[in-house]
Amino acid sequence: MAHTVIDSHFELDSSWVTVMCRATRFHITVSYKDIQRSRFATEYSEMVAKIMEDDYEEDHDELCEWIVDQCLTYFQESTVNVPKEITFEEFYHPPTHHLKLLVSGSSLYPKATRDRGTMDAFHLMIPSGDLPPFSEVPRSKASDLRIISDTKWDDYMSEIPQKAIISDGTSKFFKPADDKKQLLREVDMHLRIRDAGLQDKIRVAHLHSIVVSNDAKMTIGLLFDLIPSTGDSLYSHKESASALEYHARWKQQITAIVEQLHSHNLVWGDVHPGNIVIDTSFDAWVVDFGGGSIVEFVPRKVAGTKDGDWQGVRKIFNEWILGKEKSRINGIAVFGEIPIKDKNMELLAAYLQSHPRFGSFLVDAMGLGKTFILSIHASTSWPGMWTIEEGTNRMVDTGGFVGTWQYHRWETGV
Ligand SMILES: Nc1ncnc2c1ncn2[C@@H]1O[C@H](COP(=O)(O)OP(=O)(O)O)[C@@H](O)[C@H]1O
Ligand SMILES: [Mg+2]
Repeated sequence: MAHTVIDSHFELDSSWVTVMCRATRFHITVSYKDIQRSRFATEYSEMVAKIMEDDYEEDHDELCEWIVDQCLTYFQESTVNVPKEITFEEFYHPPTHHLKLLVSGSSLYPKATRDRGTMDAFHLMIPSGDLPPFSEVPRSKASDLRIISDTKWDDYMSEIPQKAIISDGTSKFFKPADDKKQLLREVDMHLRIRDAGLQDKIRVAHLHSIVVSNDAKMTIGLLFDLIPSTGDSLYSHKESASALEYHARWKQQITAIVEQLHSHNLVWGDVHPGNIVIDTSFDAWVVDFGGGSIVEFVPRKVAGTKDGDWQGVRKIFNEWILGKEKSRINGIAVFGEIPIKDKNMELLAAYLQSHPRFGSFLVDAMGLGKTFILSIHASTSWPGMWTIEEGTNRMVDTGGFVGTWQYHRWETGV
């Protein structure tokens, strides 16, 4: 069951996680006293202790998973009748199950319980009163925005949707309001871009509206015109052979956009490949004016300055896109032998199944002194289960073909 942890809180006495699964919310509590006379008490308290000591994200994930794993059947059974089409209002105010974990024999199981008031029902929303009026920007009501899930997937509506269908039937890009500071910068920048007369001169998606709850008290996100694109961002284009001939064009296009922005004293800010979208005509767009930055692309000292933008652009097009830097995925198992096409299928498939979204990644054949890059090109992003057909480079899921995988580079003697 695909699900998304949207909120969590850990303490030895009692911890909880809030999960979305098929447009339904589950708030699961585990209390030490409920499990204290079982082996689960030791497992639980060790995991909490690790979180308290180091506060590593992996430790949070481990405990979330430990709690959620006990509830997957419950999720499935209580979501069989979820409609395939709902509104954003329904997604943001979903039916909620309050559960607690109890021990029965040698297992943990979830039991329905009363609402103890620990859940933040307005998580992922910003009170509209905390924001400036932004009277120049139209509002869209969440109940007028439809979410259509892909019915070929069994596990749908667990993640915040990226697309909204407005009343005239067109699709818009939805960006959730998960951070007030980012939302403020984003709206402000789009207004400045408009005021500077740049709106139709540069490839930056038009800000369509601010999405609010029905009573308008909560702001839940922003709608932008949808950039017609198949892959998500430059990340999905890095390794594709056809992308090579476009490198110079994209560099030139992004440079031109940044020059235009800078000439009006507007700084892009968070320059990295994920914030460059390639459209279906292979033109490059700039997205994400939320600020912040990734140090790999924009050094912290210059973040938010024109110089920072240029350092980021150079890093992307003079180094990153040429594959000069190396990144490493932690946690890939040691391959028993150097992977050869069509071998290690199960391991590869298992690994890929746990990483439903990415454009490309590098696998290190650890200990063998050999490195190869494996990259994935999918025609769509996809949740849940899919596999690589034995003996081919085709990826399939229950709905059929989703893309191809291929080995791209083979380096020896590293
Ligand atoms: N207007 C748009 N149309 C289509 N896809 C978009 C649009 N804006 C952003 N995206 C895609 O969604 C991703 C996330 O959007 P972004 O604005 O970067 O938000 P975040 O702050 O979550 O990084 C981008 O990397 C890009 O692939
Ligand atoms: Mg981004």
